[in-house]
Amino acid sequence: MKKGVIFDLDGVIVDTAPFHYLAWKETADKLGIQIDEEFNESLKGIDRYNSLQKILDFGNVVLEEDEKERLMKEKNDRYLKLLDGLNKDSILPGIEVFISDLKKSGYKLALASASKNAPLILKKTGLLEYFDNIAEPGSVRAKPFPDIFQKGAELLGLDTAECVGIEDSYAGLQAINDAGIYSIGIGDAKILSAADMNLKSTDFLTLELINNIV
Ligand code: BG6
Ligand code: MG
Repeated sequence: MKKGVIFDLDGVIVDTAPFHYLAWKETADKLGIQIDEEFNESLKGIDRYNSLQKILDFGNVVLEEDEKERLMKEKNDRYLKLLDGLNKDSILPGIEVFISDLKKSGYKLALASASKNAPLILKKTGLLEYFDNIAEPGSVRAKPFPDIFQKGAELLGLDTAECVGIEDSYAGLQAINDAGIYSIGIGDAKILSAADMNLKSTDFLTLELINNIV
């Protein structure tokens, strides 16, 4: 039986992916770069700096580092405004019952999100108290490298083989798999075909499901 569950945040715990997209779209528009929801799929799970770089590469735009810093700050300010109204109602279906059941059954929980806004989001949604540890994205190599999930397991005092990882992004799923962690992919099974288990939505995450993973 597994002993720990390591969660991605955006797109697994809260439906914030559309906010990231809206905030980046405005940056791209200002640079004259057309991005759409399909392109946005490739940004999921990707940290702030690399997301901007992907947009710039897509539009063949080269910028100085200080201009990139300015654009990242501007994007994050826009994103934070969009997060203003975030509360318990923003939690994805079934997630609160799922994590509360896991806690009650003795599972250890960690967060492995690329987002520097993760602690704020967990506070706003009232979920912070459920998590034993948060792996800091700044201290390790970004997804798709396995580091943040390995760090999550280490913080929980568990072997990666004792953990389950949950992701909605292609890059994040690669990180879980390369960490040697059992992976659950939430969303499009075609994009997430490398997952050990695919679920259409967070609705299907249950304690029983985790208990049955060997
Ligand atoms: C990931 C999101 O969880 O966090 C990405 O999927 C986002 O879209 C990344 O770019 C970094 O987030 P933030 O909040 O630090 O800009
Ligand atoms: Mg995600």
